[in-house]
Amino acid sequence: MALLTGKVAVITGAGRGIGREEALLLAKHGAKVVVNDLGGHFDGTGQSRSPAEDVVKEIRSAGGEAVANFESVTDFKAAKRIIECAIDNFGKLNILVNNAGILRDRMMFNMSEEDWDAVISVHLKGSFNLARHATAYWREQHKAGNVLNGRLINTSSDSGILGNAGQSNYGSAKAAVAAMAIIVDREMSRYGVTANAIAPIARSRLTVDATPQTAAGMAQRPGEWDAFTPAHVAPLVVWLASDDAKDVHGEVFRVGMGNVWLMRGWHTGSKVSKKGSMWEPAELGTKLKEELAKGVTKKESMGEVMGGGA
Ligand code: NAI
Repeated sequence: MALLTGKVAVITGAGRGIGREEALLLAKHGAKVVVNDLGGHFDGTGQSRSPAEDVVKEIRSAGGEAVANFESVTDFKAAKRIIECAIDNFGKLNILVNNAGILRDRMMFNMSEEDWDAVISVHLKGSFNLARHATAYWREQHKAGNVLNGRLINTSSDSGILGNAGQSNYGSAKAAVAAMAIIVDREMSRYGVTANAIAPIARSRLTVDATPQTAAGMAQRPGEWDAFTPAHVAPLVVWLASDDAKDVHGEVFRVGMGNVWLMRGWHTGSKVSKKGSMWEPAELGTKLKEELAKGVTKKESMGEVMGGGA
């Protein structure tokens, strides 16, 4: 059943990996797609038109509608043009998937200012740039009586919601884009918009070339079901983008290997209280150590998730 007939989508970084699969499946479900991709190296350097052009060709040869866009999500004015590309070519915008991404892994003590800025710029500022122009458009259209059922889907990561050594730049941005989805949802639900985030797990340049330590575990084994294909991420995005998901607000889903995890963020595990006089720091420490020893705040690690599978 086609879930997105008549919808128009922008997907950033859709020339490769997870974004490419999202673009192909959204188009298969009837959406007209702007395939944005700068076509750079995984560290954000360089550029090429061919990744976005190739995906557009694939969509068109399967009978779908798509246009390529090669601008960088890091540029605020270019981000406006990416949104306008959808409106100019297809008459409107319903769906924005913020997916473009790069990696520059370093331990905090070795991280250069450039590595920090480049990663924050693509993931956090890039997601803001696109969301800023899309939400302004959806609000303006809603006020004019044109309800577009806008959908914002941000791409977070286990690195942001669970934490991963060597990725303080990336993980900080990925935690922020999950929070951004929750906050924008609160701002935009009155205009018929939903905002949610996904944290994918898949084989792509970012988990093979940029992080060779994860590559072997994600390799496709001959004759076996391909658990790590990025194609497993796309069905969730199609559904979140559809009218059927109109009541899904500010959620974060981890997705991959045939699983979708409904994530729950910061929540109170337990509490220590003292009334009438202030805590002595050492006394407070004793109480907190007792609570921490109960393990109620123990966090899942990325390793547990990958090994756990189900
Ligand atoms: P990928 O490297 O295959 O695809 C990312 C695409 O984004 C590339 O085609 C690249 O050219 C494009 N891009 C980079 N900077 C851009 C910019 N400034 N403007 C426009 N396009 C730009 O990697 P993958 O894995 O498909 O990544 C997609 C998203 O999923 C990223 O946000 C990534 O952080 C996220 N993610 C991926 C995970 C995985 O297991 N592969 C895990 C968690 C999150």
